[in-house]
Amino acid sequence: MQYLLKRYKNPDIYLLVGTDCLNDLHNWKNPQVIFDHATVIAGKRRGYNENPAQFKHVFLPGFFPKLSSSRVRAHILSCGDIPDTVPPQIADTIRKHKLYGLSIHAWLKAHLKPNRYLHSCKVAEMAAALSDIYDVNVETAVRAGILHDAGKGFSGPELVEFCRTHNIRVPFFDDICRQEPSLLHSFVSAWLAKHEFDTKDKNVLNAIAEHTLGSLHMSELSKILFVADISSKDRKYKDAFLIRNLAMQDLDKALLYAANRKLLFTIDSQKWLCPLGIDLWNHLIKQEKL
Ligand SMILES: [Fe+2]
Ligand SMILES: [Fe+2]
Repeated sequence: MQYLLKRYKNPDIYLLVGTDCLNDLHNWKNPQVIFDHATVIAGKRRGYNENPAQFKHVFLPGFFPKLSSSRVRAHILSCGDIPDTVPPQIADTIRKHKLYGLSIHAWLKAHLKPNRYLHSCKVAEMAAALSDIYDVNVETAVRAGILHDAGKGFSGPELVEFCRTHNIRVPFFDDICRQEPSLLHSFVSAWLAKHEFDTKDKNVLNAIAEHTLGSLHMSELSKILFVADISSKDRKYKDAFLIRNLAMQDLDKALLYAANRKLLFTIDSQKWLCPLGIDLWNHLIKQEKL
C-alpha cells in the first residue's frame, strides 16, 4: 500500500478480498492505512458469515468461486505444478522466480531419488486433505509434507556426520547412530526445513522431526504428518489403504494403527526398536484406555 501511494499520484486502490478475509481484516498490520486509502471490495464465499465489518466496504454480487490464494499456493507447494486457474502471465512470473515452493521442488528433485520425490508430493497431498478435516492450516500441512524427507538423500554415515557438524540434538543419538542411523533423517529434514528453506513455524519443524518416531506431545499437524507418511497414495503395502481411510474418520485411531504397523514392521524386519517408538506406543495405548 505504501509503495503504491509513493509510486503513483492519488491512485485509486481497490483491495479485493473474500468474506473469510474480510472478517479478519481489522487484525492485519496497520489496517487503518488500508481503510484510509483503499476501497475494500468483498466477494462472498459460501460457508462464511457476512459479519458486519467496522470499515467501509462494498460487496460484489453473487459468490466467489471455490478458489482461494492459500489453496493455490498450497497446490503449487504440494506438487510443484501451477493450476490452470492461475493466469498465464502470473504463472510465468511464479515459474521464473521459483515462487511458492517451486525452489523447494527444484532442490528436492536434485537431492532425492525420483520415487522419494514422488512420495514427498503424495505425503503433502494427503496432509492437505487431512488438514481440511482436522482444521489445520493447509499451507503448514503441505509445507511439513513436502519437506518431511528432505534429508532422506543422505546415507547413514552422512546423516551421522551432518548431525554432528550442525549440533542437531537427537534423543538416544548414540544408540541410533550405532543401530539405525537412517532414523536421523527426520531430524536432518527438520534442520534443512529451517536453515535451507527458511521455515520458521515451530509446529512444522516439530512435525517433520517427529514424523518417524513420534513424540509424547504430538500436535494435530504432527499426527497428520505421521499418518500421511505411512499411508500416502504411493504406499502400496496392504494396510496403507486402511490407515488412509481411518485417518479421514478418526486421526487418533489412525495414529495408533500407524504406530502399531511401524513397530510390527520393525520387529518383522529384525531391526532395532528405538525407545522413542516404544514410548509413543505406550503413550497412545494409555490414552486409548482413558
Ligand atoms: Fe521419513
Ligand atoms: Fe516419508
